[in-house]
Amino acid sequence: MSEINEKSWKNRLLYTTSNPADDRSRMRAVANNLILHLHPTKVPAPALRFSYTWGLGGLSAMLATLLVATGILLMFRYDASVERAYSSILYLETQVPLGSLVRAIHHWSANLLVVTLFLHLLRVFYTGGFKLGRATNWIIGIVLLLVVLAFNFTGYLLPWDQLAYWAITVGTSLLSYIPLMGETVSKFLLAGPEVGQGALRNFYAIHVAVLPVLLVALMSYHFWKVRKDGGISQPQTDARTRVERVTTIPHLVRLELAAALALIAGLLVWAMLVPAPLEALADPTHPPNPAKAAWYFMGLQELLLHMHPLATMLLVGLVLAGLVLLPRWETFGEDIGIYFRSRPGRGAAIAGLVMSLLLVPMLVIADELWLDLPALLPTWPVFISNGLIPLLLTLAGLAAIYLTLRWVGGANHGEALVGLFTFLMTSLILLTIIGVYFRGPGMTLIWPF
Ligand code: HEM
Repeated sequence: MSEINEKSWKNRLLYTTSNPADDRSRMRAVANNLILHLHPTKVPAPALRFSYTWGLGGLSAMLATLLVATGILLMFRYDASVERAYSSILYLETQVPLGSLVRAIHHWSANLLVVTLFLHLLRVFYTGGFKLGRATNWIIGIVLLLVVLAFNFTGYLLPWDQLAYWAITVGTSLLSYIPLMGETVSKFLLAGPEVGQGALRNFYAIHVAVLPVLLVALMSYHFWKVRKDGGISQPQTDARTRVERVTTIPHLVRLELAAALALIAGLLVWAMLVPAPLEALADPTHPPNPAKAAWYFMGLQELLLHMHPLATMLLVGLVLAGLVLLPRWETFGEDIGIYFRSRPGRGAAIAGLVMSLLLVPMLVIADELWLDLPALLPTWPVFISNGLIPLLLTLAGLAAIYLTLRWVGGANHGEALVGLFTFLMTSLILLTIIGVYFRGPGMTLIWPF
């Protein structure tokens, strides 16, 4: 497209004020201007296909905005003191007009954001959206996911009910297992020997001041980078194939608006029907049985039942490092923009899924009922018998899955990684489900139905 044509598009989209005195036209110009700071004036038509992105990045952004807005409203009534936190939430729930609804929207948006971000990460991985210069945004995305988990973790304590108190007691004890820095981080967060006023003050400060700044800064960079990287990933086309481009306004904005409105409507209805939970006032002398972490950390808590804490943290660290290094490890760009890379890639994903569905429940049950490595190796230190050995066996198992997909399944490197990634993500989901639904008193396995 020639420069003159491009300019005329910009003029038509930005300066729609036929009459400068007309306020509506001016407002439209301002809105268009804002939109065109976030988006380019034109986008490739295939990028608008909903079944490519599922709108997950945009929905996450919408949820983050809702969280900040409802969080500010909650701050007007919330009191971060051990004596008054619970009663301020009760007051908000029962006395403040729409207080219960605002709290429910905040609560459910926070939970949903963890889900949409996880799905967004899956979408980006499966379409190879982290390749060809998009590595920085992939890494920023991982940090964003950690920031959102930290938001949820710090927010969990604030109502100061039994659920909050004990989930954070379990959560901070998990934190202390992080090698080298865990103890220091946990001590800093708790600001005392146990969860108390110091912890509540710290969690509140981090939740309402530190994390929002980080979130806004990282999200702004993330969006800017999507633009800088030439928009979202697209299947490669040869130079002669012309990809149709359509104007952002109205084509893309119309879709974004529809998705945002559907999300807000759904959330509103849900929040009206299902209030945010609030248990009895926190009682440090009466732990519930079982004492569980928040659901998004239950995969980790479940893993800790099977492996020494240090080995568990090493495994989590290695998987995180693998995700961060992924763009260096998988550089083949020809299959970008294609879900699962190829047909064999799809087969590898199914293989990873099936292996995980079979292996994870089997191993959990075997470890619960029969396997007792420390008893089998009584003279060995527990860190080795119940830590290093299961860790090395797990890593060997992951390597075996990758090599089987390559050598037996005939997958190339990228396709085998799709299988391995699917195995890992399915295992995380399964461990979370087992931890949430299949663990009863004393964290023993139960049948929930
Ligand atoms: C608050 C958190 C996040 C927000 C608001 C967000 C938002 C977005 C949006 C709006 C896009 C444009 C395309 C789309 O909608 O899918 C995008 C693309 C992208 N996101 Fe995120 N994202 C977040 C977190 C993440 C996470 C957790 C990852 C992965 C680890 C990630 C990695 C990427 C990458 C690599 C792209 C470019 C993908 C492509 O070109 O296909 N983002 N993000």
